[in-house]
Amino acid sequence: MDDRILSNELNREDESLEFSLRPQFLQQYIGQDRVKQNLNVFIQAAKLRSEPLDHVLLYGPPGLGKTTLSCIIANEMGVNIRTTSGPAIERPGDLAAILTALEAGDVLFIDEIHRLHRSVEEVLYPAMEDFCLDIVIGKGETARSVRLDLPPFTLVGATTRAGLLSAPLRDRFGVLSRLEYYELDDLTEIVVRTGEFFEVEVTPEAAEELARRARGTPRIVNRLLKRVRDFAQVQGDGVIGKEIAVEALERLQVDRLGLDNIDYKLLKGIIEIYNGGPVGLHTIAATIGEEPQTLEDVYEPYLLQIGFIQRTPRGRMVTDLVYRHFNLEVPKR
Ligand code: ADE
Repeated sequence: MDDRILSNELNREDESLEFSLRPQFLQQYIGQDRVKQNLNVFIQAAKLRSEPLDHVLLYGPPGLGKTTLSCIIANEMGVNIRTTSGPAIERPGDLAAILTALEAGDVLFIDEIHRLHRSVEEVLYPAMEDFCLDIVIGKGETARSVRLDLPPFTLVGATTRAGLLSAPLRDRFGVLSRLEYYELDDLTEIVVRTGEFFEVEVTPEAAEELARRARGTPRIVNRLLKRVRDFAQVQGDGVIGKEIAVEALERLQVDRLGLDNIDYKLLKGIIEIYNGGPVGLHTIAATIGEEPQTLEDVYEPYLLQIGFIQRTPRGRMVTDLVYRHFNLEVPKR
């Protein structure tokens, strides 16, 4: 279990907060303007034609609001949403049961859609394309295929690993929307909104400081706000000002760019043991005692985004920015 405060993985506590905070309509959703504007057009068009919305694939790093957006899509279309995930659908029959229980126009949300079993995926193709199920009845020579009509529906798929999706599945989505890490202004606005929900005063400077350290991720900024609120309540007067925010963030070992002790281990490991790289993913993972997959999925995306790490054919390298961040002399290469 990943218990870092900066993890972008969903935990139980986030889940209940995110559920209560969830914006219901596009207008209330902060950030991701390009995705929002396009979705708004597609939703309005589908409604004007009285058709279900085309299938939508939402992809991008965890914690950016894919589940939230899928609920908003259903709300905006005025339909029900049924939520499941790739690994939860074990057999083709499980998917058939879900699909046949949908009502016309409903949204079916499949999280982690890249983890669907191949046999389940094959049931999904005709369902997405022609709204039907091909069921094989019987065995051997008496086996025959029966076609079952489904109500028209919208599949909203979410994935953090769009590259792992098979081409036939990817090709069946009419709308592909990539969520980006949030801008500082948008994250700051999210802090203010969540602060209002908590009925706690957050100064604009403190809100910005939290946003700056949240790795572009609403899930993380909300989690930081919760913890900083604890410090403000116990050690201060309850108001979240910049000073108490900075002090709390230092105590939580979240630095001014939102890096934590594991990022430090990774970056310093590459500098001190491998002269700044290049070093292979598996080698550096073994050196610092983390799983290669975790480094690749959880830690690296943000370090790549802020230009601290480069991926080269020979492995990972740290950039000059890292030396400056640690006040180290930049080596001549
Ligand atoms: N809470 C978390 N993410 C949000 C977003 N993008 N807009 C509004 N509230 C949020």
